[in-house]
Amino acid sequence: MEIQLRHIHKTFGPVHANDDITLTIPSGAIQGLLGENGAGKSTLMKVLSGYFHPDAGEILLDGQPVTIHSPADALRLGIGMLHQDPLDFPPMKVLDNFMVGYPKGLGLPRAEARQALLDLAAQFGFSLDPDAYVGSLTVGERQQLEIVRLLWLGAKALIFDEPTTGISAQQKEKLFAALRRLAAEGKTVIFVTHKLEEVEMLCDRVAVLRAGRLVGEAFPPYDLDQLVRMMFGKAVSKGERVNTALGKPVLEIKNLAVEDVRVRIQGVDLTVREGEVIGLAGMEGSGQRHLLRACAGLVRPVDGEIWIDGHNLTGKSYHEFMRRGVAYVPAARLEEGLVPTLTLLEHMILAGEQKGLIIDRQAALQRTHERIQTFSIRGRPHSPIESLSGGNQQRALLALLRPGLRLLLMEHPTRGLDMESAIWVWDTLKRRCREERTAIFFMSSDLEEILHYSDRILVFFSGQVSEPIPAQETDVEHLGQLIGGRGFQPVQEATP
Ligand SMILES: Nc1ncnc2c1ncn2[C@@H]1O[C@H](COP(=O)(O)OP(=O)(O)OP(=O)(O)O)[C@@H](O)[C@H]1O
Ligand SMILES: [Mg+2]
Repeated sequence: MEIQLRHIHKTFGPVHANDDITLTIPSGAIQGLLGENGAGKSTLMKVLSGYFHPDAGEILLDGQPVTIHSPADALRLGIGMLHQDPLDFPPMKVLDNFMVGYPKGLGLPRAEARQALLDLAAQFGFSLDPDAYVGSLTVGERQQLEIVRLLWLGAKALIFDEPTTGISAQQKEKLFAALRRLAAEGKTVIFVTHKLEEVEMLCDRVAVLRAGRLVGEAFPPYDLDQLVRMMFGKAVSKGERVNTALGKPVLEIKNLAVEDVRVRIQGVDLTVREGEVIGLAGMEGSGQRHLLRACAGLVRPVDGEIWIDGHNLTGKSYHEFMRRGVAYVPAARLEEGLVPTLTLLEHMILAGEQKGLIIDRQAALQRTHERIQTFSIRGRPHSPIESLSGGNQQRALLALLRPGLRLLLMEHPTRGLDMESAIWVWDTLKRRCREERTAIFFMSSDLEEILHYSDRILVFFSGQVSEPIPAQETDVEHLGQLIGGRGFQPVQEATP
């Protein structure tokens, strides 16, 4: 199905999220849509898939003008969208979720739906258990479920809004194989991202948005420097590695063991010093998150001790850790870090240290304005948090951190951020290390990020943890091998 967007406009108050966008997407192509945080990518795709009404503009499908009033409308016309924040129903079973959206009154037998689910999944090499609960699936598996569901409902064009955020490298390969297959079958695939290497790997063509406008289109072989300039209006680079002088120990982990139903890690010994950055590398689910959570009092260790600034906090609550200057930044922004429906201002009030019982709204408003400025958040104090673009939500989360922290624990600090924002975030984090002597302990699936910003790295592999590796003594390839278990030396065996 060929999709034509003509002169699409969409504003939110003073924000011109889509400003006169005209783009033709041929059928059978994988069309990339690239742009910095807040460029208007999700908005444009929501217009196409019926979640938003454009203020002006036209949509043509195979040359026919159409009006799309709702997502159901869009799907009837053959357009399905997978959202940036998954919109599924975790307490449901896979089969029930699969059947959501099937036109009512058609008296569909479950047995038939089950067979359709299994057949479609098999076609794409997905393994989906119809009787599993959606809540037990990984993000990658949920996407797979959504893909087969939309196909079953008759989608001829599929929109993927930053689908690789939060899935493992293996799942990403599977997803890309599925997308190539969809395109080969003549479906139209739109792939939204801000990652250049994904455009290079996958897309037959790419359109670049900046500040609501279509800046241009590009075709393979891509000139990556040119794409960066199109995205940001200038060249962007990470700069040299900066090393911070380290101070006295902040966090001491002694012979620690943590476990959940899936993994157990044990025998972790580590001292993290003021100003130091420790990166945790490993496949998702190898125990990194557990270790981080234990260091914040969010998970109780089964053995060993955790000391903060010379105080034994083993088994103490998160509140106690917070009092000692520890903060935790989770990966699931809208589930754990931010509260949907509350505005930026309200978040600032919740996060602020209140002196008395009375909330000083004026001061809070002032503070919110300042933080919006300093953290370059595209939004206003009264914007509900979920109306911010993904990258701006992440900035908001970081803006809520109080100054003078001793230890900052972070899951994926730059997940969902474009290159420029990621660099900016690390600049501010490194400044905390230098000027406030904060120690940082973080996990990431981006090995380049781990290498560039960490002083030392711990590699996790199937429940085992490596000795700390100085970042200067390793590279992406070596780390990649360790994560896959090749040449991996767990601590227990390395220390006699
Ligand atoms: N429902 C909404 N209400 C108010 N403003 C909105 C809403 N949705 C988006 N915006 C604003 O429109 C602009 C474009 O947002 P959009 O989500 O389309 O960006 P994006 O390119 O998808 O960014 P990201 O890479 O961060 O996801 C942003 O300034 C955002 O705050
Ligand atoms: Mg978006």
